[in-house]
Amino acid sequence: MSAPLEVCVPGDKSLSHRALIFSALATGRSRVRDVLQSADVHSTAGVLRALGVPVPPLTGDFTIDARGARALRAPSTDLDCGNSGTTTRLMAGIAAGCDFRSRFIGDASLSKRPMRRVARPLVAMGARIELESDDGLPMVIEGGALQSIAWSSETASAQIKSAILLAGLVGGVPVEVTEPSRSRDHTERMLRALGARVTIEGTRVRLEPLGALAPLDVRVPADPSSAAFFIALATLVHGAPLRVPNVCLNPTRTGFFDVLRTMGGAVEIEQGPEQGGEPTGTIQASYSQLRAVSVSEAQVPSMIDELPLLACVGARARGTTEIRGAAELRVKESDRIATVVSNLRAIGASADELPDGLVVTGSATPLRGRVITHGDHRIAMAFGVLGALPGNDIQVDDPACVAVSYPGFWDDLARVTRTFAAR
Ligand code: S3P
Repeated sequence: MSAPLEVCVPGDKSLSHRALIFSALATGRSRVRDVLQSADVHSTAGVLRALGVPVPPLTGDFTIDARGARALRAPSTDLDCGNSGTTTRLMAGIAAGCDFRSRFIGDASLSKRPMRRVARPLVAMGARIELESDDGLPMVIEGGALQSIAWSSETASAQIKSAILLAGLVGGVPVEVTEPSRSRDHTERMLRALGARVTIEGTRVRLEPLGALAPLDVRVPADPSSAAFFIALATLVHGAPLRVPNVCLNPTRTGFFDVLRTMGGAVEIEQGPEQGGEPTGTIQASYSQLRAVSVSEAQVPSMIDELPLLACVGARARGTTEIRGAAELRVKESDRIATVVSNLRAIGASADELPDGLVVTGSATPLRGRVITHGDHRIAMAFGVLGALPGNDIQVDDPACVAVSYPGFWDDLARVTRTFAAR
């Protein structure tokens, strides 16, 4: 067998947002290495700058000298969150605890995404929030003194949970959040690493008030959601093995790799060192005969961003793959249930929508046609993987939308495809 092809994917998006945000809230000089340089992370940097934080131009490694949440200043412009739900919802939590008015805006996709889910708990804590359109952006927050809260979230969402934790942190009050199931826990891990008292019992998280937040010194590991595209490709194409080193292996993020293994995928994980409170390691995969799988509600949070990719993999597996309990997909960067199913059909695969998921039946027939991404980066990349398979011919209407999370995706995909073809 030939030596594994190594693909280094960029830094984790969730961790990059949080590294910037916690650097801004800390007192002292924070150092962040290998941050993701993508449109979403630039949105967070821009919003922090608008609040007076001296965020330098984002190169992979940077330092920020910050003076804590009290040093944040009223913005003189709207806070433009671009396409980024994480920027909007996490920064909303911070704005709720600040004694000034902020107005959040975003692009057409973000403006339609639900914001009441963060507005409700923040209003219950004492913030005044107005949603100018039905449930989306623009959102105006008049922050100030906050009170403690114990919130039961209807949705397993790290963005809602983090908004409440950040409001508690900035407002200096204890907060507790219970979720129906556990969402990604990067905020909790980073808070702990910076000296905060965070207790976790099952799906309940509690944060005690904290004086000053210590500065960070972190290296951001690679994004498992970006690694997933190449790991999936390696199981679908002769020419593997392929390995992705230094990936964040937080168990709240790795559900896709477990499911790919259940499908018969030859996927191996080698644990590496902890980095900034996050487990990391190398993922390796090689060509496998995949069979269909059923994903149910409990599995969804740990692979929420990989479900479009799983559906595309399902189009090449033996049998009918079912995804259920994933209604959250309808309120992502696009309605990912409708977008995935209509695109699978457009290229000749058999797929159907369910209210809370989808079914897709695999085949070996060539898949050909044009994919409409609705500007959704993960749709572009998931179908990009299918398009890279020999015999398929798939065009993506807006390839540039990958800039949201993985600007170099097409170059990396072309390199991997060329190398596989030459083997
Ligand atoms: C994210 C949380 C998830 C995920 C998003 C990033 C985060 O959203 O889909 O891409 O960094 O907290 P929800 O928390 O709404 O599920």
